[in-house]
Amino acid sequence: MTPYELISRKQNGDELSAEEIEFLISGFAEGTLPDYQMAAFLMAVYFKGMTDAETNSLVKSMLESGETIDTSSIPGIKVDKHSTGGVGDKVSLVLAPLVAAAGLPIPMISGRGLGHSGGTLDKLESIPGFNVNLPVEQFLAQIADIGLSIISQSEALVPADRKMYALRDVTATVRSIPLMCGSIMSKKIAEGINALVLDVKTGRGAFINDIDECRLLAKSLVSIGELAGIKTRALITDMSQPLGNTIGNWLEVEESVRCLKNEGPDDLEELTLQLGAHMLILGEMSENVEDAKKKLKSLLEDGSAFNKFVELVEAQGGDSSVLLEKNKYPSAKFSEDIFAVSDGYVESIDPYALGIACIGLGAGRTKIDDVIDHKAGVELFKKMGASVTRGDKLVSLYSDSKEKLDSQLNAINSAIVIGNEKPQIPELVMEVI
Ligand code: URA
Repeated sequence: MTPYELISRKQNGDELSAEEIEFLISGFAEGTLPDYQMAAFLMAVYFKGMTDAETNSLVKSMLESGETIDTSSIPGIKVDKHSTGGVGDKVSLVLAPLVAAAGLPIPMISGRGLGHSGGTLDKLESIPGFNVNLPVEQFLAQIADIGLSIISQSEALVPADRKMYALRDVTATVRSIPLMCGSIMSKKIAEGINALVLDVKTGRGAFINDIDECRLLAKSLVSIGELAGIKTRALITDMSQPLGNTIGNWLEVEESVRCLKNEGPDDLEELTLQLGAHMLILGEMSENVEDAKKKLKSLLEDGSAFNKFVELVEAQGGDSSVLLEKNKYPSAKFSEDIFAVSDGYVESIDPYALGIACIGLGAGRTKIDDVIDHKAGVELFKKMGASVTRGDKLVSLYSDSKEKLDSQLNAINSAIVIGNEKPQIPELVMEVI
């Protein structure tokens, strides 16, 4: 068997055996299969898909490329959440400390920016000193001690996903149900969790836009989780506009801190409470969504969730003073504002265009080894449906590069459409699977 043969069979739409998939995935994780052959294989899967049997083999091979964490020494139901990726999706930064403050242990392996979407690890790394590369023993000790830890894939933990994820980010091969299942579920099974809530995004800013395809993705993810003995639930949620008011790593940390201090914004808080409520139900801490949301809201109000975030940052070597002292974090070198040129309503805000523009500002990667500008990004002052008067500030752009800032002005301007009619805003949570 050679990589050439297997890539070409997948190109033809043939079904590969578990051994053939294992050959490719373990070869890539171990470094014997080069990037260019894995990139070709990923593109073949992107176009031809995989059968359920192939997808299950992919998850297994990716999982077995590293170790599975044994969390049995930590008491309680270990629970996590994972998103299929969106724009301005900073939910994990608020949700993980919130649910940990409620008493459920959270062992979280997250990802970096992927395609047009941001990543929790890049956001956390915008906090000076924050270390996402903890050894497994330290990860476990921290969860036992403060109730949560957020780390990256590594040489020991799902190394296949670590490398495939970085490659998919820059080869436009994210939008694929089997590849998303392999990536997400290998990480989640490796964590040693008992329960999982998945945030499956739909709409223009999601990787899978179409609602029927999203249902397929949600069902696949749930069935892989259940097969692995994890109580799994998926919420299909709206990504037709960015979540919250900021896109960009440090901007999103700042906004998460405001949300953790019970200062909104409404959409971020509501989605966090809904996802958290399902985590509390699976974790057997609440009977129903309303009761769970009330419990969680009280932890935002009394400061417990924010304090837990500070504990997390300090435990992983981060400088918490940037969260505690306003204006301590340095500002981006360059900024620009865009104003409304007519009266009306914000008819649409294209999250995909803004996600791509933020990469152009420096907030994401176009090549695997690109260095991120943590301060780069955009701040939205009006969301969909807001009424607008000519001259109102719509958006601010930030970057440490003037050239990058100038290059994205037009794209960002055209991503926000003002119309005469107030648009219908889709429900934030559309379905629970
Ligand atoms: N999140 C992941 O971890 N992987 C994907 O493929 C998409 C979102």
